[in-house]
Amino acid sequence: IEPSVTPQLMMAVGTAVIGSLQFGYNTGVINAPQNIIESFYNETWTSRFSEPISQSTLTALWSLSVAIFSVGGMFGSFSVGLFVNRFGRRNSMLMANVLAVIAALLMGFSKLAASWELLIIGRFTVGLYSGLSTGFVPMYVEEISPTSLRGAMGTLHQLGVVIGILLAQILGIESIMGNDSLWPMLLGFTLLPAILQSVLLPLCPESPRYLLINCNEESKANNVLVKLRGTENVSEDMTEMKEESRQMSVEKKVTIFELLRAPVYRQPVLVAVMLQLSQQLSGINAVFYYSTGIFAKAGVSQPVYATIGAGVVNTAFTVVSLFVVERMGRRPLHLTGLMGMAISAVVLTLAMALLDQYSWMSYVSIVAILSFVAFFEIGPGPIPWFIVAELFSQGPRPAAIAVAGFSNWSANFVIGMSFPYVEQLCGPYVFIIFTVLLVGFFIFTYFKVPETKGRTFDEISAGFRQSTGRGADKYSASEEFNTLRGDDPDL
Ligand SMILES: *[C@@H]1O[C@H](CO)[C@@H](O)[C@H](O)[C@H]1NC(C)=O
Repeated sequence: IEPSVTPQLMMAVGTAVIGSLQFGYNTGVINAPQNIIESFYNETWTSRFSEPISQSTLTALWSLSVAIFSVGGMFGSFSVGLFVNRFGRRNSMLMANVLAVIAALLMGFSKLAASWELLIIGRFTVGLYSGLSTGFVPMYVEEISPTSLRGAMGTLHQLGVVIGILLAQILGIESIMGNDSLWPMLLGFTLLPAILQSVLLPLCPESPRYLLINCNEESKANNVLVKLRGTENVSEDMTEMKEESRQMSVEKKVTIFELLRAPVYRQPVLVAVMLQLSQQLSGINAVFYYSTGIFAKAGVSQPVYATIGAGVVNTAFTVVSLFVVERMGRRPLHLTGLMGMAISAVVLTLAMALLDQYSWMSYVSIVAILSFVAFFEIGPGPIPWFIVAELFSQGPRPAAIAVAGFSNWSANFVIGMSFPYVEQLCGPYVFIIFTVLLVGFFIFTYFKVPETKGRTFDEISAGFRQSTGRGADKYSASEEFNTLRGDDPDL
């Protein structure tokens, strides 16, 4: 029987991905009002110290305001494991909203209080919230979704992120909230999704996997599954979870330290971390920083709208990915995305290098940027977030998600801080670096990343166990081949 998308499942997933929207919103919101907020820093500084702020201090304060978000994200993502096993997946999401509310108030009142410190602390706090969210949301969504819909539901996390970015771009237009008087509301807007999520979460079920495997509450888990699947017949899901639970009593709960030390996890941890790096080091954020400049060069009179156009392409292709991920699988989409991005980056580099000779090259660079963004959302955008939850069974999953999230946020921080300097050094050739990295990640994915589509969590980790097993019997050798090549065992 084809599992159906029930209203209860959509409601739970929809509520969870409000957390993804918050992450996207706060990633995008700071770019548009940069000049306005900088002059607020200048004014505050001037009234406090009776002299205008120096350019270098202003740049440093601004970079700190932007980048401290990813520092918060690093701490948040690393703390995911402290919450999910103690309080459950749903309650952890609920509790994190306290941080979102505090952050919204700090940022929203920073102007009134004439304090840039509040804004910076607020950015850190919302970073903490986002780091927790990027762990909680994919974990919850994966655990409540039927196996055959896990990828599509997991992609909804990324859809929430890109819609959040788009929303921030639109609200950040000068005539809406991106102006001198309304920017505190633009930053404080985070309050609304936080309240909405806090109201809706108590109506959503706890993850049945958590209820059964962590709390041993079989009948509760069964009831939740009946609601989520819309059918009384949930024995198949129950059997699969019990099997995973039985495996877990053998492997026990795993701490981050154990995860990094145990040889059984070496392969899946490497895959998880490399996939996160392939997302961040692909240069996507660099494109988002660069796009306004290139659009301006291309003679677009309102580069803001071109950037919003990029946001629309971003959202549209996430939807495309949503609909094809269960049909085509994770590997082909990730590989297609990486290769498409690499080719777009080469075209972009050539177009930018030739911009002075041929003015029409500006249009080529616009197309290259849009296709770079589109290919990102086909694979490298959505897949790394949810594949981590698929690569590990219940025991090591929280630790693995923490490690993966930490790598993602660290790479995000490194790119955010270093890109302006690297760009100064390399000029238009900066994208050659990303091309090399993209090709490297393509090769890694081709040889090391298994297909997870349609396989239960237990089958996936069994595949890794076998490929690390030292036994040279025929069965494990062929399993290893399947895992490494990512062949779908169902075919
Ligand atoms: C700060 O504001 C003063 C007064 O408006 C201005 O002259 C100065 O250039 C500003 N400083 C920076 C670094 O923008």
